[in-house]
Amino acid sequence: MSRIAYVNGRYLAHAEAGVHIEDRGYQFADGVYEVVAIHRGRFFDEEPHLDRLKRSLDALSIAPPMSRAALKHVLREVARRNGIRDGILYLQISRGVAKRDHAFPKNVAPSLVVTAKRTKPTPRKLVEEGIAVITIPDIRWKRCDIKSISLLPNILGKQQAKDAGAFEAWMLDEQGMVTEGTSTNAWIVNRQGAIVTRPAEEAILNGVTRLAVKRLAAAEGIAIEERPFSLAEAREAKEAFLTSTTSLVLPVVRIDSQPVADGKPGKLSLKLRALCEEAMAR
Ligand code: PDD
Repeated sequence: MSRIAYVNGRYLAHAEAGVHIEDRGYQFADGVYEVVAIHRGRFFDEEPHLDRLKRSLDALSIAPPMSRAALKHVLREVARRNGIRDGILYLQISRGVAKRDHAFPKNVAPSLVVTAKRTKPTPRKLVEEGIAVITIPDIRWKRCDIKSISLLPNILGKQQAKDAGAFEAWMLDEQGMVTEGTSTNAWIVNRQGAIVTRPAEEAILNGVTRLAVKRLAAAEGIAIEERPFSLAEAREAKEAFLTSTTSLVLPVVRIDSQPVADGKPGKLSLKLRALCEEAMAR
């Protein structure tokens, strides 16, 4: 089945699909995006993704290109036309096409692009053996709560992690506190067995998986502390893990080459992953 992309009202062959060279997403990274997981044909936590999309658009004063109901129809149509039962949807909205000028253009329709791709299940090795993270300074702007397509610091950080043989880079603010990963939220389990993650203010993206983990942990009676934690605390933690739509929950077993506890995936991390997998299958 050949891949199909949705671009501004049309379903096009993926290989030929494109936006105008003066699209503000292309020229200024003036846009936002979402990534939604498809599991056995169902969209996982679609509503929270669409809620966050609305918040991102509002924060940048970009008008929604269509109603929520119409957008949901397009998402389903892209998944269907690509025959995807397990994979991800990518949707991107930019401020639209206009002559290059920093200030907002007037009377310009926002651009909407939706693609879908099949994904392989997370390799069991990553779950069973855990993953390594490095730490880097957080050089991003002060509105990381907006899911903006402007991701230069994130891609540079991810490449640094890859070059170091790690899965992810955790970013540190000027106080040495962990903000989040380049495309994931960061968590630790402290000595008392509480899960600790940074509050969802402007320094991090409020992950939809983060919200799911909070919800599932609360239902299990697991203590949650929403507060910044330092690199020093993470090094001393009982467990560490990360969350995202594409990784779900992955145990972190090394931070800057130093083992977290005994260097094996933590029990609570694995339990939270199992709870997420169950929630997805429901
Ligand atoms: N990344 N933090 C950042 C900076 C992210 O880019 C993401 C998502 C997350 C986790 O959010 P969620 O649980 O909603 O996926 C946290 C997506 C998957 C991406 O860029 O591909």
